[in-house]
Amino acid sequence: MAINYSEKIPNNVDLASDRRLQRALEKWQPHYLDWWEETGPTDFNNHEIYLRTAISVEREGWAHFGHVKMPDYRWGIFLTPSEKGRKIGFGDHKDEDAWQEVPGEYRNNLKRLIVTQADTEPASVEQQRLLGHTAPSLYDLRNLFQVNVEEGRHLWAMVYLLHSYFGKDGREEADELLARRSGHADHPRILTTFNEPVEDWLSMFMFTMFTDRDGKYQLLALAESGFDPLARSCKFMLTEEAHHLFVGQTGISRVIQRSCEVMNENPGADIREYGAIPLELIQKWVYRWFSSCLDLFGAEVSSNSATFFGQGLKGRAFEMRDHTDHDASEAGFSIDSWDGKTLGREEVPLRNAMNEVLREDYIRDIERHVKTWNKVIEKAGVDFEVHLPHNRFNRIVGLYSGARFDVDGNPITEEAFVAQRDKWLPTDADLTFVKSLMVQCIEPGKIAGWISPPSKGINGNPFEFEYVRA
Ligand SMILES: [Fe+2]
Ligand SMILES: [Fe+2]
Repeated sequence: MAINYSEKIPNNVDLASDRRLQRALEKWQPHYLDWWEETGPTDFNNHEIYLRTAISVEREGWAHFGHVKMPDYRWGIFLTPSEKGRKIGFGDHKDEDAWQEVPGEYRNNLKRLIVTQADTEPASVEQQRLLGHTAPSLYDLRNLFQVNVEEGRHLWAMVYLLHSYFGKDGREEADELLARRSGHADHPRILTTFNEPVEDWLSMFMFTMFTDRDGKYQLLALAESGFDPLARSCKFMLTEEAHHLFVGQTGISRVIQRSCEVMNENPGADIREYGAIPLELIQKWVYRWFSSCLDLFGAEVSSNSATFFGQGLKGRAFEMRDHTDHDASEAGFSIDSWDGKTLGREEVPLRNAMNEVLREDYIRDIERHVKTWNKVIEKAGVDFEVHLPHNRFNRIVGLYSGARFDVDGNPITEEAFVAQRDKWLPTDADLTFVKSLMVQCIEPGKIAGWISPPSKGINGNPFEFEYVRA
């Protein structure tokens, strides 16, 4: 399963054996590089970045570290090895052989799932493109670029599937993926969260904590797919994704730690005056990003989710490991209900609740990390607790989108929401303040005043290491 780096497009899918496909992807490659130049990280394309690159997909071999210029990064196509005799694990085709080709009757649904996932990858690169200018340290700058190049690779992973299995339609979709732009008025990215700019590093950490983690759960669900090439692509993407989540969860923790330190050094003071971010502001960022990311899972009760599951295209996270009823056509799922006036509880068919099942897994995952942040605060002797808002708060997709709820999930009037909005969500003044702290600090070993250094560097190197050099 070694990856062939002498080829134009590194891959472990034996691209050389399919000349047509290889030519099509080699034609797409310069357009990809143009897209990177136009919308990728600004100003750092000539710097050498200490990046990891996949050189094989085996457990030990896939992360190879070295200084490279980003445009020279070897974006390639890597799938985890195929599992001999793999069967479809769930839905109406359970126990049939996994598909190695697209099943004709599910072509459109499958394409839609792939395009939706694919679109988020370049979107996040576009959203983060200016952050290099305000990086708090070389270490963070390097992590940003690592995330960016890997999102680029994830786009490659999905474009390979589109080119390889969806013919002309797929090639058109691949071109469209380079044509849409995050936040563009006429030609935006598909999902709302991916059209919001990420302009400060607190938001960058929230993005990698909450938005990339939505990605993790979508990939986990797609990694169970009966369409084997999709499952294998997503499995490998998950190994890369883990670092993005690490950047987010430790980033938030380091900001919290620094705020607590400054509070302890200056009892009773407004730590804004000392260039740190008050915990109340971090809480607002959590409210905003968490609620926005819950929307990415889609409606609570969804016929699409039932269709995707029934057709064997998209399972649950850890479908084979954590579940026993892989048919799920008889079972029910208990879910909060809301008729516009009253909250209640109802039982819905499990297949229709798959979005909600995935969302609940996601929330449980996040709750664990919130606990570790609160430990940092507790250890500093500060009286504060970060918490997640109720999943009804601030939603624009699904059951709760037409109404207002407070952060504890109680229904409130529009007036009550407006009156308290600034207490819960970042205000313009909050954003201006946080942005005012975002001043580039990239001397080796130095770090901005609003965040603590990491407990260790990358790949055994110290924090002071020259992760980025001119
Ligand atoms: Fe990704
Ligand atoms: Fe990611």
